[in-house]
Amino acid sequence: MIRQAEDLARGEAQGTAEFAADVRAGLTRSGQKTLPSRYLYDDVGSALFEAISQLPEYGLTAADERILRMRADEIVGRIPGPLIVSELGSGSGRKTRWLLEALARRQPLTCYFPIDISAAALRHCERELDRIPSLRFEGIESDYLGGLGDVARRRPAGHRLLLLFLGSTIGNFDRPAAESFLRQVRRSLLPGDGLLLGTDLEKPVPRLLAAYDDAAGVTAAFNLNLLGRINRELGADFDLDAFAHAVRYDASERRVEMHLRAASPQEVQVPAAGLRVRFAPGETIWTESSHKYAAGEAREIGRRTGFGVEGGRWIDQQWAFAETLLIAA
Ligand code: AVI
Repeated sequence: MIRQAEDLARGEAQGTAEFAADVRAGLTRSGQKTLPSRYLYDDVGSALFEAISQLPEYGLTAADERILRMRADEIVGRIPGPLIVSELGSGSGRKTRWLLEALARRQPLTCYFPIDISAAALRHCERELDRIPSLRFEGIESDYLGGLGDVARRRPAGHRLLLLFLGSTIGNFDRPAAESFLRQVRRSLLPGDGLLLGTDLEKPVPRLLAAYDDAAGVTAAFNLNLLGRINRELGADFDLDAFAHAVRYDASERRVEMHLRAASPQEVQVPAAGLRVRFAPGETIWTESSHKYAAGEAREIGRRTGFGVEGGRWIDQQWAFAETLLIAA
């Protein structure tokens, strides 16, 4: 028990040091200041993202869930034989439930390996899924690629793997990074395994901008919480009232960008990062990109990254969102 507490404390200190180094790197680079979007998701940010996923303007999560609810039997039916399931990011488990229930109708036991760096997220997901019959829940607290290595080692002989990467999280990677990530994912799979990849599709710009700048201000709070987190964890003195949430659409890159804009000149101290940083009025910190895709793009990316055949593609009728099943070649 004492050892566990020590390990936890060491892990936390490492996490803080890495956070401080990333904040320092992003706020001192020449030109556009940036912060990595993964830091949006502390406990407060994760709760705000859950709220975003229920907003009327943000149709993405509902569309993702609708496809899985309506097509679960068909999706799992595209991969024959006994299956295990893994997921990159466990999320709330709400969407995954439909696929796991479809599998419970088809095989006596299903092992499910959600991979998440947050132990709290894994616990939440386990609670959400605890009533599915014959499910063996084996959460893996890890980054995605490390966790996939673990899944490969634990895979029972003769089972194919269905890997889920839902919610268009791939859209938060720059396009070249997304391809190189999928190439690395492919290395952990065997021929015949499936990757179910969710991608949010291109749509009219006003609709996209509203999705990332909702009337209730939940996305603004989600974005500003990143500065709050730097204040809480790194002892910084960002004045949250002096920064405003801003979104823009870059048509050539086909992405929505979230920024935080300084309303007036600012000087901020970030003691844990050994940093004093100035902001000119109107200057922004770029905090997230959400890339949007053409309907056939996931298949093309799949072909370039070691997935031979498309196992199927499902598009929601109310919100342009695609679920593409890629089969490892
Ligand atoms: C998690 N990810 C796919 C969301 C997105 O749409 O890019 C995160 C988000 N950012 C603002 N709203 C939602």
